[in-house]
Amino acid sequence: MRVDVVSIFPGYLAALDLSLVGKARQSGLLDLRVHDLRDWTTDRHRTVDDTPFGGGAGMVMRPDVWGTALDSILSAAPDDAAVAPGGEPAPGGAHLIVPTPSGEVFTQRHAEALATEDHLVVACGRYEGIDARVAEHYRAAGVAVSELSIGDYVLNGGEVAALVMIEAVARLIPGMVGNPASLVEESHGAAGLLEYPVYTKPPAWAGLEIPEVLLSGHHARIERWRRDRALERTAERRPDMVAALDVTALDKHDLAQLRELGWVVEDGRLVRR
Ligand code: ADE
Repeated sequence: MRVDVVSIFPGYLAALDLSLVGKARQSGLLDLRVHDLRDWTTDRHRTVDDTPFGGGAGMVMRPDVWGTALDSILSAAPDDAAVAPGGEPAPGGAHLIVPTPSGEVFTQRHAEALATEDHLVVACGRYEGIDARVAEHYRAAGVAVSELSIGDYVLNGGEVAALVMIEAVARLIPGMVGNPASLVEESHGAAGLLEYPVYTKPPAWAGLEIPEVLLSGHHARIERWRRDRALERTAERRPDMVAALDVTALDKHDLAQLRELGWVVEDGRLVRR
C-alpha cells in the first residue's frame, strides 16, 4: 500500500517510523511518504491560509495550494490508475482522506475498508480547516474522498487524527500483524463486542489472582467465560453497542447472560429492561 500524507508540520508524522508501521515501511509492505504542504506555495512567505469569506474567527487553508499539492501527488504515484490520460483523476485510484472534526466518525469498519485500497492520500488541515471546494473538486473529478473525524473533540489539526487512522489501517494490511489471529477477537471486531479482559504471568500479583477457569485448560469453559465477560463489559461501557447487536448471531447462553445484565429481546432487537 502507498500512503502520502500532506501537512504543514511533517515532523508530527515522525511517529510513523516506529513500531509496526515503521517495520512495515522498512520491509516495503507500506510505502509511506510525508510531504510539506509549503513546498507547493509560490510566494515568499510560503502562505497556506487566508481569512474566511463571510467573516468569522480563524484562518482557512487555501484551495489553490492544496490543489497544486494534491494534483502533483495524485499524478506522481507510479502504478496509480488515479490519473487518466487527460490529466484528471479517475475512479479506481487514490482515496483522499481529509481528517476533520466535522467528518463522519472513523470506525473499525472504515479501517477495514481503507485497508483494501492501494493508495491513500491524507490531507491534514490546520486552523479552521481546508476550503470546502477542495473536497468538492476531487469528488467531482472522480476521486474517492472521505472526510473523517476520530471523535467528538477538536484537535489543533489533522496530523494526530492521521496518525490514528494510518495505524488503524496499516495493522490490517495482510502480513502486517505477526499473528493474524490476534485481530480476530479484538474490540470492535465483527462480533460487535468489546474484548474480554486478558491476563498473563505471574498468576498472583498485588493480591489479585487469575480467574480459576483460565487455568483449567478447559477450552469450551474458557470460551464461554470470555464471551460472558465481553458481554458484561460491553453492557457496562458501551450500551450503544449492545443495542446494535445482531440478535440472530447470539446463542441462548448469550441471551441468558444479557438478560442477567438487564437486556431483553423485543421485536427482534435488544432493549434495556
Ligand atoms: N482535526 C481536528 N479535530 C479533529 C478530529 N476530531 N478528527 C479528525 N480531524 C480533526
